[in-house]
Amino acid sequence: MDWNEDLKAFIMSRRSDDPLTLALQQKKYPHLDMKFVAQQVEGYSMAKDKLPSLALCDDFVYPPKLNREQCSSEATAIFKAEEYAHGKTIADITGGLGIDSIFMAKVAANVTYIEQNNELHNIAKHNFQVLSLSNIECHCTDGIDFLIETNRRFDLIYIDPARRDDHGRKVSAFESCTPNILDNMDLLLSKANLVLIKSSPMIDISMALAQLKNVVSTTVLSVRNECKEILFLCSAKTITSSTTYRCVNIRTNGGMDNLTFSRETENTLTIPYTASIGNYIYDPNVSLLKAGAFKTVAHVYNVAKLHRNTHLYTSSEIIKNFPGRVFRVIKELRVSAKDIAGELPGGKAHIIVRNYPLSSQELQKKLHLKEGGNLFVIALTKCDEKKILLLCSKEE
Ligand SMILES: C[S@@+](CC[C@H](N)C(=O)[O-])C[C@H]1O[C@@H](n2cnc3c(N)ncnc32)[C@H](O)[C@@H]1O
Repeated sequence: MDWNEDLKAFIMSRRSDDPLTLALQQKKYPHLDMKFVAQQVEGYSMAKDKLPSLALCDDFVYPPKLNREQCSSEATAIFKAEEYAHGKTIADITGGLGIDSIFMAKVAANVTYIEQNNELHNIAKHNFQVLSLSNIECHCTDGIDFLIETNRRFDLIYIDPARRDDHGRKVSAFESCTPNILDNMDLLLSKANLVLIKSSPMIDISMALAQLKNVVSTTVLSVRNECKEILFLCSAKTITSSTTYRCVNIRTNGGMDNLTFSRETENTLTIPYTASIGNYIYDPNVSLLKAGAFKTVAHVYNVAKLHRNTHLYTSSEIIKNFPGRVFRVIKELRVSAKDIAGELPGGKAHIIVRNYPLSSQELQKKLHLKEGGNLFVIALTKCDEKKILLLCSKEE
């Protein structure tokens, strides 16, 4: 990579061009690598949303698409840095584009970045330099081999394995990722006090907990209510208690919803179930649902659950700060397109279906509704097994 001021100025002047058209202009600009230019323009466009503060750095270089897709977002990288990296010595053994290394380095004592892909390693190294992150040491090698050979011991090893199979398809189970964490668990735990493993939101958490060792905490991390990562923090010390679950959602305004629980407490809690709909309906964030905090959320926020298998809750008074969407109930609706047309003259609503025999598309068709507007139709089964429709508005 030959980065210089002229190349940078050219790329910046083309940021609003179509990357595909740019890539096809090699003849017009024989002195430039137009595939690289197109990669930068496309990378910048992705980074404005995924890596907003890094996109402000005009010298930041973007790798090919697959590596951009695989990198952590700025929001999740900042969360991990704040939670796990303060003052620590860190080895990021699957460094990639280095997004996690960058944000960890801002608060850590130092970061050892290791990446086996030469092109990606060189891009990350350049980016660390232009961001003036002098406490990152770079190694272009296999992260497992590096750990075998080093006599250093780190406070934290971070591993975000590549989750693609030989055909480029996405995989989630640890044994299908590279490097294979399960084969190397003892090595990882012998080289650091803590090992933080990032996994796919699709991973089966119970299976992962059965496969890993000494998992102190399991964090289900969402951004704007979309599950992005599941993080397993493992300790080099043998632990006697079971893992703590943390459900985190980073909101649009940067604020955070955070709920911590243990599986034992969740399993032994007795919570109220009700078939009587209160003034408000609560739909918990995906982090809580993925972690299975179904009873804990009812207990902590003092709301009643509508059915064992309907993960919606209700109360007569509004519960502020509920970690999820809150709806005000306007009325119960009959399952009749004619009645609904009377209630929704514009014929528009958002449909939410929970434990109901029809999918949202099927219900939308049956009720002759279009997606949109400000109102919500929530279809659900109550604990008396009655299936109902509620017309609701969303509380901001
Ligand atoms: C999911 S990406 C990491 C993204 C990174 N956390 C970021 O935010 O930019 C996984 C990376 O691990 C690298 N990798 C896979 N196996 C490796 C190994 N044994 N040693 C070093 N790097 C490896 C891949 O080349 C890929 O770039």
